[in-house]
Amino acid sequence: MKQILIDAYGAPEQVARCADIADVGAPGPGEVVFDVLYFPINPADLAFCRGQYRLRPPLPATPGAECVGEVIAIGAGVSGVAVGDRVINLQRENWTQRRRVPATDVIVLPAGVDPKQAAMLRINPPTARLLLTDVVALSPGEWVLQNVANSAVGRLVIRMARARGWKTVNIVRRQALFDELTALGADACVLEGDDLAQQVKAATGGARIRLGLDAVGGRATTLMSDCIADEGTVCHYGSMSGQEAVIPRHALIYRGVTLTGFMLGRFLARHPADEVQAIYRELAADLLAGTVDAPIDGIHPIEDIREALIHAQQGGRSGKVLVQANARA
Ligand SMILES: NC(=O)c1ccc[n+]([C@@H]2O[C@H](COP(=O)([O-])OP(=O)(O)OC[C@H]3O[C@@H](n4cnc5c(N)ncnc54)[C@H](OP(=O)(O)O)[C@@H]3O)[C@@H](O)[C@H]2O)c1
Repeated sequence: MKQILIDAYGAPEQVARCADIADVGAPGPGEVVFDVLYFPINPADLAFCRGQYRLRPPLPATPGAECVGEVIAIGAGVSGVAVGDRVINLQRENWTQRRRVPATDVIVLPAGVDPKQAAMLRINPPTARLLLTDVVALSPGEWVLQNVANSAVGRLVIRMARARGWKTVNIVRRQALFDELTALGADACVLEGDDLAQQVKAATGGARIRLGLDAVGGRATTLMSDCIADEGTVCHYGSMSGQEAVIPRHALIYRGVTLTGFMLGRFLARHPADEVQAIYRELAADLLAGTVDAPIDGIHPIEDIREALIHAQQGGRSGKVLVQANARA
């Protein structure tokens, strides 16, 4: 079977290779074995390859925070999972063709879910969901400001906010995205730039915005903090610029703006296990209903991991880059 290995930390397309390794073997008691169908390349996976992620395991290592698979064998004592089920995996190291994991670490998907979309279910949908519900308690009709609005997370924030009765003002890097995001449910779109506060004020009619979602860092965080109301919150959850989140002391001291951070695992851990399962079941149902799907810019076979990694690092994409690990009819 094939598995992606990185032998050093560095430029993802230079350090990753598709290796032939021994099969995972038959499932033991309580385990399942599944064939990986697709995995996405997320910014955190790229950071992992570069050695810039919070996890930096000994090498060689296999990246991959998420995937979708099809169960091909189950061990003794496993219930609730059957051969042929499509599953997502709560463990890492998913850039591979086959996994053997405890049955308790897989979530069975409803029949009929698009496997390409399901490959992107584990991380971004619950991230968008918890960013909206678990950072600030928003009242109906309130505005949320976010950057990277055309990212997978950003698009989900737009749709989930609209569905729950909150309005979004969305920062992007090119005007060509405005119509597309408006069609998704964005209430306003603005361009990144030094005049952000004026643009946001004009677009929202001077609304009092209590929550800003920042996945850029550096000056973008500073500019966002200028748009947030006194006593409001900027939640930093990613750093596409590679820079630290900075907000000025006048925002912190005089206006009481809070700079906080979000990490999915940390926030999910605040929910009991049955609630986490329920969140994923709800998101899987949303996926089946077509309300949390994400655009895909291209799909590469696992053997072409280097091309896939180059593709995933290109700006201006119109969706995620997926890798197909095993073909199915
Ligand atoms: N903390 C958590 O638990 C958590 C969980 C999930 C995701 N995240 C973070 O959420 C962010 C989005 O993830 P995703 O998977 O949705 O991303 P994605 O779909 O791959 O999209 C990447 C986005 O980043 C933008 N971008 C790239 N470089 C930028 C820069 N220097 N300045 C401003 N924007 C830039 C791109 O804009 P263009 O189209 O203009 O290139 C695009 O909107 C990432 O930072 C990721 O690490 C965090």
